[in-house]
Amino acid sequence: MADEKLARAFRGKAVLVTGAASGIGLGLSRALAGAGARVVMTDVDGAAAELAAEALRTSGLDAAAAQLDVRDGAAFRCVFDSAWNRYGGIDALFNNAGIGAAGDARDLDLETWRQVVEINLMGVIHGCHAAWPRMAAAGGGQVVNIASAFGLLPGPLYTAYSATKHGVVGLSRSLRAEGRDLGIGVTAVCPGFIRTRILDNAVMVGVDRKRAEAAVPFRFLEAEDAVGVILRGVRRNRALVVFPWEIRLLWWLDRLAPPLVDGLSALAARRYRTLREAGD
Ligand code: NAI
Repeated sequence: MADEKLARAFRGKAVLVTGAASGIGLGLSRALAGAGARVVMTDVDGAAAELAAEALRTSGLDAAAAQLDVRDGAAFRCVFDSAWNRYGGIDALFNNAGIGAAGDARDLDLETWRQVVEINLMGVIHGCHAAWPRMAAAGGGQVVNIASAFGLLPGPLYTAYSATKHGVVGLSRSLRAEGRDLGIGVTAVCPGFIRTRILDNAVMVGVDRKRAEAAVPFRFLEAEDAVGVILRGVRRNRALVVFPWEIRLLWWLDRLAPPLVDGLSALAARRYRTLREAGD
């Protein structure tokens, strides 16, 4: 039933996904192609994107690949425009590419801050900038920005990451307001932890990767389950897709009693501080 609804929403639609070679982006691409969409899978790792697209084509699905580093706004426009021309429009853009970054704020240098902002925030801005005028002129479209629970809640030890994801939520909600009269839907996705390569690929400053992973106080969802929740929210054109329930509960608590969540976050920061390799 869910698959039928997905197929009804996406059959024949042209979609472009960033960061499509791994994790959530790969899962989204597979599910969308499986629903009958024509999927352009882009990634900074162009070879991995091509391999993934080829695997989908071998199963009889419609998938193409392109190398794209989302930090490069001109390249994003070029890839988006060529996909637009190839398919006669792009119905949905999934700004998914991102990297994790962990470290005590005392240890973060500006280069790390910039790297995280360039990928996680400017990357999404580049996508919106390329898609928005075209979608507006065409009379509609859908933009899906993968933010994080740390885009709604404080992220101690994940400060740079959290800053960019709050930016993505603000960007998405503002664009959504502008998009209503233009026929463009905008969804910001705010998940908790999902089992992907994100922690393996994350920038870790002064903290041990394995210990940081072990200290995460939430369960990890499987990527496939997360993709199902995300696409259900997108299909319904939700402003925000927040999951799983424990994140929704914390978010609700944060709106009801912000000092409570501030206090819990300070406790989490104290716990995380013990991971700091330099010590206090
Ligand atoms: P992942 O590491 O498995 O996949 C990320 C993909 O993005 C990789 O294929 C990588 O090559 C690509 N990428 C990295 N830098 C890029 C760049 N500059 N240009 C283009 N592509 C680039 O990670 P995952 O978990 O699938 O992450 C996808 C999105 O989901 C990210 O925005 C992440 O912040 C977000 N997210 C992930 C959560 C998790 O627990 N895994 C939780 C909440 C949000």
